[in-house]
Amino acid sequence: LLFSPHNLHFFLSLSFNIVVIALEKKNIVSKLGDNVTLSCIYNEKTLQLKRLRVYWQIADDSYQEKCSVVHALISGQDNNSNQCIHFKDRTRLFWDRLGDGDFSLLLLNVSQSDGHTYKCVVQEKTDRPIVIHEEEVVLSLAASYSQPILSGPIRNSDSTGEEVTFNCRSGNGYPKPNVYWINKVNNSHLSPSKTEIISHDDGTFSVFSTLKVKATSNMQIECSIENEMLQENLSANYTQQKKISDSGTESDENLGKKGRGAQAAGIISIVFLIGVLTALICWLWRRRSSRLVAYRDVQPRDDQGGLNSPA
Ligand SMILES: *[C@@H]1O[C@H](CO)[C@@H](O)[C@H](O)[C@H]1NC(C)=O
Ligand SMILES: *[C@@H]1O[C@H](CO)[C@@H](O)[C@H](O)[C@H]1NC(C)=O
Ligand SMILES: *[C@@H]1O[C@H](CO)[C@@H](O)[C@H](O)[C@H]1NC(C)=O
Ligand SMILES: *[C@@H]1O[C@H](CO)[C@@H](O)[C@H](O)[C@H]1NC(C)=O
Ligand SMILES: *[C@@H]1O[C@H](CO)[C@@H](O)[C@H](O)[C@H]1NC(C)=O
Ligand SMILES: *[C@@H]1O[C@H](CO)[C@@H](O)[C@H](O)[C@H]1NC(C)=O
Repeated sequence: LLFSPHNLHFFLSLSFNIVVIALEKKNIVSKLGDNVTLSCIYNEKTLQLKRLRVYWQIADDSYQEKCSVVHALISGQDNNSNQCIHFKDRTRLFWDRLGDGDFSLLLLNVSQSDGHTYKCVVQEKTDRPIVIHEEEVVLSLAASYSQPILSGPIRNSDSTGEEVTFNCRSGNGYPKPNVYWINKVNNSHLSPSKTEIISHDDGTFSVFSTLKVKATSNMQIECSIENEMLQENLSANYTQQKKISDSGTESDENLGKKGRGAQAAGIISIVFLIGVLTALICWLWRRRSSRLVAYRDVQPRDDQGGLNSPA
C-alpha cells in the first residue's frame, strides 16, 4: 500500500517541487560555442498543450525593445514570428518532454552576447490567459584565464633568514579561479600568504596571489590558475638560475665588485702619482744642484771681476 503508484507519484511530485523551488533562479555557466539548456519545469498539474503559451524572454526590462521574444510556443506550436534575429535557428524546445511540463530551452552555439537572465513565462488560456508559471535562469559564459605572470623572487629585507616573495597574476577569466602554488622539487603544495580576487564590470575576475617561502639553493616554483568550470589549468614556472640566487644579492655582489675595483684603481693611481712626484722631485733636485754648481763656478770670476774692477 505504501508503494502504490498513487503514493509514489505523490512522493515524487513533492520532492520534485522542492528541487524546483531550490533551483528557482538558476545560474548556468557555459563556454563560448557550446549548447546550453535553460531549464523551466512546471508539473504541478496536467496541462493541455493546446491551451498553453510559453514565452522565453530576456528578463532585463531595458532589453525588451531590442529583443522581446527568444522563443515562443503558441497553441502547441513553435511560433517565432516575433523572435528576435539574434536567436534565429538557435533555439529549441524538447518536444518529448513538453507533455511533462518541461519547457526547457536549448540554446545552440552560445556567444558572448548571450549572457543574460532569461525568463520563461507559461500562460494557460481558459477564459483569458493567466500566468501559471515563471522561472528565471541566469546564463553566464565561462572564460579562460590569461597566461599567468609569475614575478620574483624578491628578497624580503625586513625578514630574518632567507625569505623571498613570489607574485602571480592572471585575469579575464570566469568564474573565480583556484590558485595553486607548487614546489616542483617534490610537487608539494605551498600556501600563499595572500590571494586577492577582483571582479570587474564585465563580469570577469583578476587574481593576484603572493607566496612567501624560505629561499633554498634550487628553488623551482610553479603558480597554477585553475578554471574549475572549464577544467583548465594555466601555469607559470620559476626555476632558479645556477649562479645568482636573487636580485638582492646580485646587486650587492655587483656593488662589492665595483667597490673593490674602485679601491684598486685608487691605489694604483696613488702609487703612480707618488712615482711621478718622486721623479719630478729628483729631476728638480738635480737641476737645482747643477745650477748651484754653475753658480759656484761663476762666483770666483765675479769675485775676480770684483777684484779686477778699478778701485
Ligand atoms: C550543438 O548542437 C548542434 C545541433 O544539435 C550540434 O550539431 C553541435 O555539435 C552541438 N555542439 C556542441 C558543442 O555540443
Ligand atoms: C504566430 O502568432 C501570431 C500571433 O502572435 C499569429 O498571427 C501567427 O499566425 C502565428 N503563426 C503561426 C505559424 O502559427
Ligand atoms: C557559432 O556562432 C559564431 C558567432 O558567434 C559563428 O561564427 C559560428 O559560425 C557559429 N557556429 C556554428 C556551428 O553555427
Ligand atoms: C618539499 O621540499 C621542501 C624543501 O624544498 C620541504 O620543505 C618540504 O617539507 C617538502 N615537502 C614534502 C611533502 O616532501
Ligand atoms: C590543476 O592543478 C592543480 C594543482 O596541480 C590540481 O590539483 C588540479 O586537479 C588541476 N586541475 C585540472 C582541471 O587539471
Ligand atoms: C613549467 O613546467 C612544466 C612542467 O612542470 C612545463 O611543461 C612547462 O613547459 C614549464 N613552463 C615554463 C614556462 O618553463
